[in-house]
Amino acid sequence: MYVCVCNAVTDSHIRNAVDDGVRTFKQLSRTTGCGSTCGSCRETAIEVLVQSLTEKRETTGLLTVMQIA
Ligand code: FES
Repeated sequence: MYVCVCNAVTDSHIRNAVDDGVRTFKQLSRTTGCGSTCGSCRETAIEVLVQSLTEKRETTGLLTVMQIA
């Protein structure tokens, strides 16, 4: 599913970014461009990011410290 139409970022891209070490929306935006154009995807992108981080923490026991801003 496309999360960010402006930058063609899907939920899979966000999960992959989390696997590659992304932990904040700022990092996600920097690495994928998500939210960097019109910004209308920000809320959905954060929801997918939080879900991905939660799943990763549950599967790896990773302690996550998140900064949304
Ligand atoms: S839809 Fe993501 S920046 Fe426009």
